[in-house]
Amino acid sequence: MLIKRHTVQSLQDRKGREPLVALTAYDHPSAVVADQSGVDLILVGDSVGPVVLGHVNTLPVTEDDMVHHARAVARGAHRALVVADLPFMADRSRDRALEVAGRLMKEALVQAVKLEGANPPQIAAIEALVHHGIPVVGHLGFTPQHLHQFGGFKVQGKTPEAADRILEQARRLEQTGVGLLVLELVPEDLAARVTSELAIPTIGIGAGPHCDGQIQVFHDLLGLHVGHVPRHARRYLDGGNLFSQAIARYARDVRNGTFFDTEAPGYVRQD
Ligand code: KIV
Repeated sequence: MLIKRHTVQSLQDRKGREPLVALTAYDHPSAVVADQSGVDLILVGDSVGPVVLGHVNTLPVTEDDMVHHARAVARGAHRALVVADLPFMADRSRDRALEVAGRLMKEALVQAVKLEGANPPQIAAIEALVHHGIPVVGHLGFTPQHLHQFGGFKVQGKTPEAADRILEQARRLEQTGVGLLVLELVPEDLAARVTSELAIPTIGIGAGPHCDGQIQVFHDLLGLHVGHVPRHARRYLDGGNLFSQAIARYARDVRNGTFFDTEAPGYVRQD
């Protein structure tokens, strides 16, 4: 049976009709699970840095890291739209953005790329990507690659002037050809304004209930994240503890000689 994959256009058609469900994934098994659970959009985020690779933030993530993880994810997702982040500084010129996005499309086989911000370099990069047929997802509000400029993990757009600036940037991104827009850590009334003004869908994280969809980080959702868990994260499973308990049982069984005991609880035949 042919499985039909979501596209930027099919997700745009859902605006105002059905909320979009987005989740990050960084490897093949998590992509398979997310895809088979009915997630609409899988983001291979540069959050792979702090969540999976042990970096302090997203800034050290390289082009090769993104291609490597995106490839594994794309192999496991057949229904969801797979989007990969352009890593920090990949937007420093149009050519550089085209090179990195081109690798993500050609080598990793993702269907779109995401890039953060709407300053002149990003607008130029998006224009070039769109002209080359690469679907682009925008990202405004708290954009983690600008962490040091923001002075920490802070809600953006809190003053009327800052809110107007973000709204203006959102309009600009839409005009430039961005197909979907992630809004991170902005007040919910600003997210509501952006969502109602734009024709393209917004996908929120820490942006309240009025966006056209929500995105969460895989490891936050399943209780697997060992570092800082943001306040907007929702936990649907205490995965870290469940994993620890299972591994402790395995260790106990090996140490007390019951690992091969077919009557022991948890024994699963392998043949
Ligand atoms: O890298 C990432 O995971 C992201 C999401 C938080 C939107 O950009």
